[in-house]
Amino acid sequence: MKASVIVSTLFGSAAIAHPGMGKAMEEIKQIAKRQFQPSTEMLGELKTLTDSQLSTTGKAIKAILLGTGSPIDTTTFYTAPSGGKDAAACKADRCCVWKYIANDMRAVMFQNGVCTNIARGSIRLGFHDAATWTKTTPIGQGGADGSIILSGTEMSRGENSALIPIGPVYTAWHNTYKSYGVTMADLIQFGAKVAAGSCPGGPRIRHFVGRVDNPNANPAGLLPSPFANASTILTTFAAKTIGPGGVVALLGAHTASRQTVIDPTQVGAAQDSTPGRWDQNYFSETINPNTPSTIVKFQSDINIANDAVTSPVWTQFTNNKAAWDTAYAAEYIRMSLMGFQDINGMVECTKVMPSVLPL
Ligand code: HEM
Ligand SMILES: *[C@@H]1O[C@H](CO)[C@@H](O)[C@H](O)[C@H]1NC(C)=O
Repeated sequence: MKASVIVSTLFGSAAIAHPGMGKAMEEIKQIAKRQFQPSTEMLGELKTLTDSQLSTTGKAIKAILLGTGSPIDTTTFYTAPSGGKDAAACKADRCCVWKYIANDMRAVMFQNGVCTNIARGSIRLGFHDAATWTKTTPIGQGGADGSIILSGTEMSRGENSALIPIGPVYTAWHNTYKSYGVTMADLIQFGAKVAAGSCPGGPRIRHFVGRVDNPNANPAGLLPSPFANASTILTTFAAKTIGPGGVVALLGAHTASRQTVIDPTQVGAAQDSTPGRWDQNYFSETINPNTPSTIVKFQSDINIANDAVTSPVWTQFTNNKAAWDTAYAAEYIRMSLMGFQDINGMVECTKVMPSVLPL
């Protein structure tokens, strides 16, 4: 997809300008300012590499991080060669084993027309493994490094209590696939993307492998509180290179969500009327005062929905699913790379992503 096409998709029709519009043009610019703006800070070693030093994959990732490359792919598909995952033909392609993993994941992540507990937990697991990082975290001590499971202690932190059941699912997959060179860090981020796409309507997010595992617990206190005000949440995410629009896009994952710990009297209560589906009801229902109390709203979500900086983007995503999906995919790819220092050496395995499930 061309950059200009992406920009107009992100901004929706309101931002498509015609030359010579004078005053109307000024108004459109003002509206555009309030529309989603992608996060654009570079990550990892891409901060210092020159363009001529970049691999094909490095260039593709850099473009996604700049908000110009497409973060979604609905056309590149792959069939594993016959002979199974131990065949020489499979071992010759780094992505081949990931096709087997994708099949295993999709089978347990999409059932009865919705994404499952494992899918919803996987989306959140990817966030909680990666986001234990800020721009000032020493290299090798935080980010998307598998430590949420491998450390054995991160899971005992309060913010991870609802994720405890998902741990053994990933440990089992890792045990099956680690002899094929599959790291826990890659498995968790792949799982978070396959999971989003396993909720009907979810985007097919591009994926890159090569992350390195870390058995040590990442720094505590870097994940946002569900009771924080908007400025605290935006500061927390800014420290991770994610701007206000990115926060809104990522919070959209709560479209699929069912809470257990915020309101213990309503275990399993959803955050919109259609849990397990990647639709925009979460955005519209969070700002609607008449939403029934059987839908549990997080205070942090209400705060971001109503904040002066973020509410225009919230409204934009309520009305424009393509803009939200593109923004979510780009901001989540960013999340999935936090802390990693060999982005240029990654391999793109988007082709193994399962097919899109329409809403
Ligand atoms: C301000 C930021 C955020 C806060 C405070 C927050 C907080 C929470 C809380 C309290 C829950 C309910 C856990 C439970 O009771 O079981 C939850 C669920 C969830 N969160 Fe977030 N979250 C945030 C951002 C995100 C982001 C960035 C993502 C992913 C991109 C995400 C994905 C999810 C998912 C998928 C669930 C549902 C899990 C399930 O249904 O099992 N959240 N979040
Ligand atoms: C947000 O919360 C922080 C931390 O509790 C507090 O210091 C700050 O004053 C609050 N900001 C607003 C605008 O309420």
